[in-house]
Amino acid sequence: MADSSSWQDMGRVIRESIGLLGFWMTLRYLLIYMLSYKPFNDRSFDRRHGTNTGGMVPTSELDIDDQSTKWQSNLYLGSPARVTRHLIRSLNIDCSNYTFVDYGSGKGRVLFTAAEFPFRKVVGVEISRALHKSAERNLISYVGEALKSSIELWCGDARKYTLADDNLVLFMYHPFGPDILKEMLIHIQAAGEQNPERRILIPYLFSIGVSKAVFQEFPAFKLMRDELCVNNLYRWTLYELKTQQD
Ligand SMILES: C[S@@+](CC[C@H](N)C(=O)[O-])C[C@H]1O[C@@H](n2cnc3c(N)ncnc32)[C@H](O)[C@@H]1O
Repeated sequence: MADSSSWQDMGRVIRESIGLLGFWMTLRYLLIYMLSYKPFNDRSFDRRHGTNTGGMVPTSELDIDDQSTKWQSNLYLGSPARVTRHLIRSLNIDCSNYTFVDYGSGKGRVLFTAAEFPFRKVVGVEISRALHKSAERNLISYVGEALKSSIELWCGDARKYTLADDNLVLFMYHPFGPDILKEMLIHIQAAGEQNPERRILIPYLFSIGVSKAVFQEFPAFKLMRDELCVNNLYRWTLYELKTQQD
């Protein structure tokens, strides 16, 4: 349900759009908007599982003290479970030999979906204490079929999280801006070089120019798959870290 300030915003958007685009063009855009899928309003997962993973938290409202980190952090928005399942199935791996990490796990929806698969472990890494707390509450309230992996929550900056010495699936739903992504790729590459035997896969959701440009600076991360979608939010790319020994 929209609050009164968002209705006022909507009135202003419509008035100013009519001034800019004219009545008919504005009406066409409004109809498209009304018919479109709005991920922040999608409560289907929560209705089924007794959780609260919906809504959107803009960057300005994320409780992150360090301002330069804050402005390189992207908003909270949960991925649809169907999308997560598709990404995991597309990896064609034996999940029982992998640890799954969601970098920027928010309220935890991806973690529950990943735990439908028999990963060795599923870990959520989230910088916002408020979102981390929501994920903790969701872990308690979750109802549904028994999950096949255990879920761990870690609250802090993804740059400080120490990766397990295991085969890894490092899921990212466009969590940070390019400066932090660069630091993350340096960190992940260094971890991979310490144990070149293991596989490190990164399914990157909302794979847009800015993130692709960062990955291109790191040739060790090979592009394995690149899928488009009518909704840009769900275009995704799979990278695999290939160390020199491969
Ligand atoms: C687009 S949301 C993705 C939520 C979840 N992974 C999903 O797909 O449902 C991005 C999340 O990344 C978190 N985030 C941003 N910067 C971070 C950082 N440096 N370390 C850990 N989490 C971060 C944000 O707080 C936000 O919850």
